[in-house]
Amino acid sequence: MSLTFNEELDRLTEAGLRRSMTVVESAQGPRVNINGRDTLLLCSNDYLGLANHPALKEAARAAIGKYGVGSGASRLVSGTMEPHVALEGRIARFKDAPSALLFNSGYHANIGAITALAHRHTEIFSDRLNHASIVDACILSRAKVHRYQNRDVDGLERLLKRSKARRKLVVTDGVFSMDGTIAPLVDVAGLLDRYNAMLLLDDAHATGVLGTHGKGTLEHLGVPAHPSIIQMGTLGKAAGSFGAFIAGDKALIDLLVSTSRPFIYTTALPPAACAASIAAIDIIEGEPQRRRNLLDNAAFVRDALAHAGFDTLGSESQIIPILIGDPVKTMTVTKRLLDRGVFIQGIRPPTVPDGTSRLRVSLSASHARADLEFALSMIIEAMNEQG
Ligand SMILES: Cc1ncc(COP(=O)(O)O)c(C=O)c1O
Repeated sequence: MSLTFNEELDRLTEAGLRRSMTVVESAQGPRVNINGRDTLLLCSNDYLGLANHPALKEAARAAIGKYGVGSGASRLVSGTMEPHVALEGRIARFKDAPSALLFNSGYHANIGAITALAHRHTEIFSDRLNHASIVDACILSRAKVHRYQNRDVDGLERLLKRSKARRKLVVTDGVFSMDGTIAPLVDVAGLLDRYNAMLLLDDAHATGVLGTHGKGTLEHLGVPAHPSIIQMGTLGKAAGSFGAFIAGDKALIDLLVSTSRPFIYTTALPPAACAASIAAIDIIEGEPQRRRNLLDNAAFVRDALAHAGFDTLGSESQIIPILIGDPVKTMTVTKRLLDRGVFIQGIRPPTVPDGTSRLRVSLSASHARADLEFALSMIIEAMNEQG
């Protein structure tokens, strides 16, 4: 048996696709400790610098003092605690949604929403570059799945026009997690009434980041609230905490409570994570300067990389890919950068399509300009060495 495992591992190694983990010996932040060395971190989703923020830590400590550490059971058994309900109310207000429901992660939220909404008589229309959790959810749902080309609204409309399904569910990332591009939501939302379709928007990377108040991609693009738009957001990225949510119509949320398996059959989030998330949303709403710093940092890095001649795949956000293509070369550059004190993760298939391995730079509001200048010079050096 173990020989088979080793053979599989060898195959992954030969293809340059074997993965390993880098241990971080400090809190997430613009600089971290790796192997005892001060290292610039440019691959965390802690976009606003909240993961180690004193207000979040204090909220978590206070919640542990009052509620302890574990939530004890599923929400439907004995695990619904005051911080869960308070956070759901806070999220609904933040997202201008009638109601919200927590899930233990964005992965769970996508699986939970899509499998509850899509049945045998449903057709799902999913952008080709959607996150793996959406891909997995589509398979689990047993619905008929159409994958349209990335951000191709005409292609999506052609598929919707042909569909005779009783329920049609369009699913798209708001910000594409590996390209940093933004979905054409004005046009996608324009199709919903015409084709009697619902939209599940995965706003994992836009929640807290895009829009004047950090509400996400819809606010950024000026798409008005619509009863057929369901929003997913995560609390482990810009919010610096942990967990995720679905926000939408009250009847939808009630339906998820009764039918969504990743909600029903799992222990509830720790109360401290919920308390930290509430503190994070207060900061997201109250400190717009963080968002401005983040987006300024992103524009600075994008411009410098374009000027240096790198292909950033049309990135429009705080996620900036640097296309390399070959997985082995990509990981060699990642290692060379780490040796120079800069941690930027290489991303390979199946996370991205074959032939598009890349570095994925993600910025934080807390990066100093001098750090970014240093990182850029190291990126140019390491990429030139790789040829
Ligand atoms: C677009 C997208 N959706 C969902 C997820 C999953 O979120 P979480 O990390 O909370 O499970 C991610 C995170 O990697 C993501 O990038």
